[in-house]
Amino acid sequence: MRHPSLIPLSHDHHHGLGLALRCRKQALGRIKPLGSQGLKERAEEFKNFFAQNLTPHFKAEEEALFPWLRAAAADSHPLIDDLLRDHEQLRAAAAGLGEGRELAKILFDVGDLLERHIRREERELFPLFEKHVGASDGERLKAEIERILAR
Ligand SMILES: [Fe+2]
Ligand SMILES: [Fe+2]
Repeated sequence: MRHPSLIPLSHDHHHGLGLALRCRKQALGRIKPLGSQGLKERAEEFKNFFAQNLTPHFKAEEEALFPWLRAAAADSHPLIDDLLRDHEQLRAAAAGLGEGRELAKILFDVGDLLERHIRREERELFPLFEKHVGASDGERLKAEIERILAR
């Protein structure tokens, strides 16, 4: 059972994993339409998901979850540093997606990065958070995350 403050984030992760898989399959020519039409459609889907879901999602992690965990657990620092680097790479990828050639390779790589990022948060970040969070901070963080996601 996920901590209540993490449930909306896990919900985004679930959809993000589906999208990451579609990006990789599209890149490998396993989803129709094949060729540049399908690649463009998938790139659009990624950009839309990034704008609507991942932008507020990253904000909630960067403004609420990461700072709290950094202060609560020194052993979280290397992990959070890696996750922040992933966010920067994903932001840059979303901003440039659809431009230039080699869209198949770019889509494959962005799908791969998104999946690895989400799995690390689910397997390492969230359990670490759940280990350290207490009842009162948990309530406060839940409200803060919900406020950021609703902006
Ligand atoms: Fe993240
Ligand atoms: Fe996340």
